[in-house]
Amino acid sequence: MTVHKLLWLMPSLIFPLLTHAASKCSDITLSVTASSHADDIVLPNLNPKNPNFVDDLLNAGVGDVGRVWPLIPVGDTFNISAIFCEPKVYNEANAVQLLAHGATYNKLYWTGLGLPEDQAMPYDWTRFATDKGYAALAIDRIGSGNSSHPDPLLDIQTSLEAEVLHQIVLQLRNGKIGKRFSKVAYVGHSMGSLIGMRSTQLHPQDYDAVILTGWSANFVENFPKILAANLLPAAIALPHRFADYNPLYLALTIRKFVRDAFYGPDGSFDPKIEEYNFNNRDAVGTGELVSILAGTTKTTYAGPVHIIDGEFDAAFCSPGPKCVRGPNTAPGNTAPLFPNAQKFSYSLIPNTGHCLNLHHSADKTFQSAHDFLHENLENA
Ligand SMILES: *[C@@H]1O[C@H](CO)[C@@H](O)[C@H](O)[C@H]1NC(C)=O
Ligand SMILES: *[C@@H]1O[C@H](CO)[C@@H](O)[C@H](O)[C@H]1NC(C)=O
Repeated sequence: MTVHKLLWLMPSLIFPLLTHAASKCSDITLSVTASSHADDIVLPNLNPKNPNFVDDLLNAGVGDVGRVWPLIPVGDTFNISAIFCEPKVYNEANAVQLLAHGATYNKLYWTGLGLPEDQAMPYDWTRFATDKGYAALAIDRIGSGNSSHPDPLLDIQTSLEAEVLHQIVLQLRNGKIGKRFSKVAYVGHSMGSLIGMRSTQLHPQDYDAVILTGWSANFVENFPKILAANLLPAAIALPHRFADYNPLYLALTIRKFVRDAFYGPDGSFDPKIEEYNFNNRDAVGTGELVSILAGTTKTTYAGPVHIIDGEFDAAFCSPGPKCVRGPNTAPGNTAPLFPNAQKFSYSLIPNTGHCLNLHHSADKTFQSAHDFLHENLENA
């Protein structure tokens, strides 16, 4: 162990509760200009007046035949709302983690849902990261939280979101956000992992390490359709929060569905967290669901990759109901999507569902991610 690392460890051993207080988080807004084209997806003839419009749209996005969506150029200057946390003392990687949440969530997924600190602590990824000497930037993806809400069908798609990530990476490396970072680790959850996959396809050199949580190449059959059946325009479902949203921003409507889709068995999470999560759920742009499959194809990314799934992930442990280790089952069977990766590894977190950070096991997820980063960034 180097002297530097010893010095960094000592205060956290002696004053475990004081060191985090000394790290600092701030709410920031980034201005990001990005452009792409709407993903090359297949849509049938759609009639927004049809009551099944949302279903039809989403079914189209997961592969039914229809006409090809034209390659419409999309892009703009967006406000990206983010929480930026810096450690008291950086570790030798001098790295920042770029954290991207899943659909119907926002940046607060990474900070214990924004609950008061004593309640949020066990679920706070950013706190764990800064305690290990990493900076963390948790963003509201476009269309979520307090970031810009552009066209929910054409703009909120994986390709444009991936270009937004690329611009944020450039800002991190150029010293526009905190210090000039020499290493950037991508950390996605669920839809954030799918968009991360897309970003490694478009910009394979952007990241020094990639962690994809709540993700595999295998959607549980019918999951997108079940999801679709539980969505309504957010302006109708949650008018007190989203009255002015374009009707193609959608919100989940049935608590039981959200609980079963996103959480593990009873006892694996605190029901108060699940309730708070449901009451504070965010909206999702339709285009994100339609372009979802762009994040399940091969990438030329050549750095290390680590996947972390709850063993009871209802969305990605296909064929289910559990993820099991092995080369022919999710997530081990995802390795062929990374033919150039320097390393591919994965962990399954016991007694845990899709939204890993919100379970009693959250610290095991955080530890798995940071063991991987320690091995691949701090000694490299
Ligand atoms: C967005 O801003 C409002 C007002 O400042 C705040 O209450 C809310 O928690 C923010 N949401 C997110 C996801 O940051
Ligand atoms: C970004 O934020 C600024 C300042 O609040 C605001 O004037 C501008 O309209 C926002 N832009 C978008 C695209 O939301």
